[in-house]
Amino acid sequence: MSHYVVRGGQALRGTIPISGAKNSVLPILAATLLNGGRNVLHNCPDLRDVRWAMAILEHLGCKVSREGDTVTVDSTVVDRWDVPHELMREMRSSVIFLGPILARCGRARLSLPGGCDIGQRPIDLHLSALRRLGADIRQQGGDIFCEARDLQGRDIILSFPSVGATENAMLTAVACGGATRVINAAREPEIADLQEFLRKAGASVSGGGESVITVSGEMPRRDVEHTILPDRIETATFLCAAAACGGEVTLTGTEPEHVGTVIQCLREAGCAIGCAGRTITIQAEGRLTAMPTVRTMPYPGFPTDAQAPLMAAACTGAGNTLFIETIFENRFRHANELARMGADIRISGRTALVCGGTLHGARVRSCDLRGGAALVVAALAAQGESIVEDIFHIDRGYERLAEKITALGGNIQRIGT
Ligand code: UD1
Repeated sequence: MSHYVVRGGQALRGTIPISGAKNSVLPILAATLLNGGRNVLHNCPDLRDVRWAMAILEHLGCKVSREGDTVTVDSTVVDRWDVPHELMREMRSSVIFLGPILARCGRARLSLPGGCDIGQRPIDLHLSALRRLGADIRQQGGDIFCEARDLQGRDIILSFPSVGATENAMLTAVACGGATRVINAAREPEIADLQEFLRKAGASVSGGGESVITVSGEMPRRDVEHTILPDRIETATFLCAAAACGGEVTLTGTEPEHVGTVIQCLREAGCAIGCAGRTITIQAEGRLTAMPTVRTMPYPGFPTDAQAPLMAAACTGAGNTLFIETIFENRFRHANELARMGADIRISGRTALVCGGTLHGARVRSCDLRGGAALVVAALAAQGESIVEDIFHIDRGYERLAEKITALGGNIQRIGT
């Protein structure tokens, strides 16, 4: 099993580029099934989850290739409508293929998705949105069978602004007769990016990034060239690493507006952060101070995916910070591992009180993607050597992590492939 060896205590200094967003490229790869043509996607991070999504497209009959950060998908031929268990179990977001396969093939068979162990992660909102559009869905054992008898555009009211359910609804609605409105839609920037891709392909979609999205039922048929938006969670993670370690770090090719809440927290903790165009520079001197309560919320609130890296930074600060996780019920698993490094974190249900202090090196284990990234942040800030195990979780969402940290002067070595 691969692991990182991190020798902490170095300030981080330098400039690194931010990669394309994992959470944008996955639904857009699924959307390439729709147009029956050629899709050229730039700024695609080379990540485990992206490779799995490319494998699913190949299984379905598409021709898929990568050159540098450009992925090309030719979906002229789609001759299968199932996603086998081996491909589904690797990532939960593979459920995003349900809508596009249904729209393209009129039927779909998927097994129940895998992914991070951060909570129950049901897919009921995805299924009820598709049912509302007329899909006939049966669950048998671990499989979901879906048939599009007579897809009709309708109003879909989401009881929670689920990112994945919003995307699946948009991707199915293009195949419906008539217009669909997704009400209480997720407003994450990745939804607006999906809308932009669909529009380039010829679909009529509006409202992406707002609470009501309208899709007129018309299959997109055009070839597309599209550049994936920058990864706001990778951006947030590097901001937290710089805040925890001290130093001065510049992140290029990113979108400052998408990490507004994270920047605000770090400024309140004493960091100086400047934004210019697509660049963010953070300067961190001395110890962080306490932050006002950090409450995870749907966008534009504080992102749940940045909660763990920010918590790692808070552990190195001088005061106490309260974290409230409102999105996922089991997203404090990194706290036990941080405790091995000397962190003082008191958990009660969905609340974690972090009492700032100093961290020391330890052997720790990644439990999920963002929790694993938090352990790397903590290890970089800790005195002494740490070993971060089970980094296959981290590989799902961070491109060339060790390389980027090394470019900033951090001491990290990857052992194993
Ligand atoms: C996406 C992101 C993930 C991020 C999350 C919240 C991708 C690939 N992943 O995940 O990184 O942490 O948004 O910002 O984009 N829920 C239900 N029923 C459903 C669907 C969701 O109850 O059918 C619940 C979930 O259990 C969770 C909440 O809704 O408590 C938010 O989930 P959702 O927004 O759907 O997250 P994902 O799309 O899975």
